Amino acid sequence: MANDPKIENLNRLRQEGLLGGGEKQIAIQHEKGKLTARERIERLLDKDSFTEIDMFVRHRCSDFGTENQRYLGDGVVTGHGTVDNRRVFVFSQDFTIFGGSLSESYAKKICKIMDMALKVGAPVIGINDSGGARIQEGVDSLGGYADIFLRNTLCSGVIPQISVVAGPCAGGAVYSPAITDFIFMVQDTSYMFVTGPNVVKTVTHEEVSFQDLGGAVVHSSKSGVAHFACKDEQTTFEEVRRLLSFIPLNNLDDPPIFETSDPWDRIDPELNTIVPSNSNKPYDMKEIIRRVVDSGDFFEIQRDWAKNIVIGLARLDGRSVGIIANQPAFLAGVLDINASAKAARFVRFCDCFNIPLVTFEDVPGFLPGTAQEHGGIIKHGAKLLYAFCEATVPKITVITRKAYGGAYDVMNSKHIRCDVNLAWPSAELAVMGPKGAVEIVFKKEIAASDNPEKTLEEKLSQYIEAFANPYKAAERGYIDDIIEPKDTRPNLIKALRMLETKSDSNPKKKHGNIPL
Ligand code: HXC
Repeated sequence: MANDPKIENLNRLRQEGLLGGGEKQIAIQHEKGKLTARERIERLLDKDSFTEIDMFVRHRCSDFGTENQRYLGDGVVTGHGTVDNRRVFVFSQDFTIFGGSLSESYAKKICKIMDMALKVGAPVIGINDSGGARIQEGVDSLGGYADIFLRNTLCSGVIPQISVVAGPCAGGAVYSPAITDFIFMVQDTSYMFVTGPNVVKTVTHEEVSFQDLGGAVVHSSKSGVAHFACKDEQTTFEEVRRLLSFIPLNNLDDPPIFETSDPWDRIDPELNTIVPSNSNKPYDMKEIIRRVVDSGDFFEIQRDWAKNIVIGLARLDGRSVGIIANQPAFLAGVLDINASAKAARFVRFCDCFNIPLVTFEDVPGFLPGTAQEHGGIIKHGAKLLYAFCEATVPKITVITRKAYGGAYDVMNSKHIRCDVNLAWPSAELAVMGPKGAVEIVFKKEIAASDNPEKTLEEKLSQYIEAFANPYKAAERGYIDDIIEPKDTRPNLIKALRMLETKSDSNPKKKHGNIPL
């Protein structure tokens, strides 16, 4: 059918569609240091795996001269492809058409692939680069956003949803990424805010730049809105692919299993020397994590926010695990508002997607102070408690040192359905730290003593002897075993193998009411 005019027409239209808003707009996009919507998809997916849907969609608005600007695709590229040969759906907002702004037709394209992803059981990755609601389309555009928000919510916990913010993402548009499981931002070229610098200036008289208000660094270190801030787009897409390697395609699937050359029974004598003998001295919990997991490969999430708790994905025996660990090297590993919220959402993600939880615990308690109390540490701390209680995936805890007070209960204790609780000999399980406890319990005795300092010292050593160890808890069965630190990896893997067929459930209900 050489020179068939109908085929020539099809090919011409396809070429036009591939150019989005045209070569001039593509050049402007590149000048801003940004890739185009299609270049992004190419970097995200396996080579030549992308199948586009709805390239021929055009908007049907006729206000403000838009009837003369009916670009093919209408500002968003949608479809599916593979990452490491596993199916994913993707939408990529095309800034070269109406600044990537969202129209009624555009929203329908996104909804179509979300609906398909839900039926097929595959993740959705949304690449955001948009001026927000298409102003010329008014309420149709707002409705389009709401259609997407609804689907984000319905897909939550069924298929993983990942957002990449690679340009502007402002106003109500931020709430789609906010509902998804993970947000990646690109440093310097992306920003997210509910109201921009101009509105901020009018309302609060603050002068602030786009980046200082809602850039990648701000959201990954101050607000905790973003999970990753990557140095450029190439790195961003590599990191998204890496994240996908740890997680299943849907809530009925298991995470992929990787062959590992790291022996399951590898012992690590260095682990015996990491926790300092002085229990007030810090150490780096991440070193313990890296020494225990397969080949030291730990994919940390929200690395720069609420550093007193560490969360991330790794593998043990080739299988994915979600790691939650207090970090004694930052604020002594205390639980505060941000740490609780950070860990709670991650625990719930892992529980939705069949990823076992491994907790490393060294926690002196909850952070005291008016800022925390007035900020609602009670309800935020309760989130983490609730999340651990509710989780039915295999749950394992290793107490490396402190497990004090309410934080002992919260951090995946035996009492809240943790399956295997292990402790190192350096573990201290008590209502509170020795000094605080002794000063309360023996207050009168110390005050009445001829030598208060000596009495305090005596009482301290009695308390440490009695409580600052794991044996009382092990006597009760709250700790299943006390292990040498060097044997942590084989012990965790044995526990995970035993738990492979674990089945547990919660009472039937519409949904719980997690403290928000
Ligand atoms: C229609 C838009 C648009 C929009 C940008 N454009 N935003 N068209 N609706 N929302 C068009 C511009 O007119 C321009 O068209 C082209 O896209 C590129 O925009 P520029 O301004 O030249 O780009 P840049 O200088 O990079 O600035 C990007 C920007 C700016 C900061 C995003 O465009 C901007 O401020 N846009 C408006 C943002 C906004 O207020 N959106 C509504 C938010 S409220 P031409 O033809 O000149 O190339 C909202 C509510 C969502 O989104 C509610 C959900 C519930």
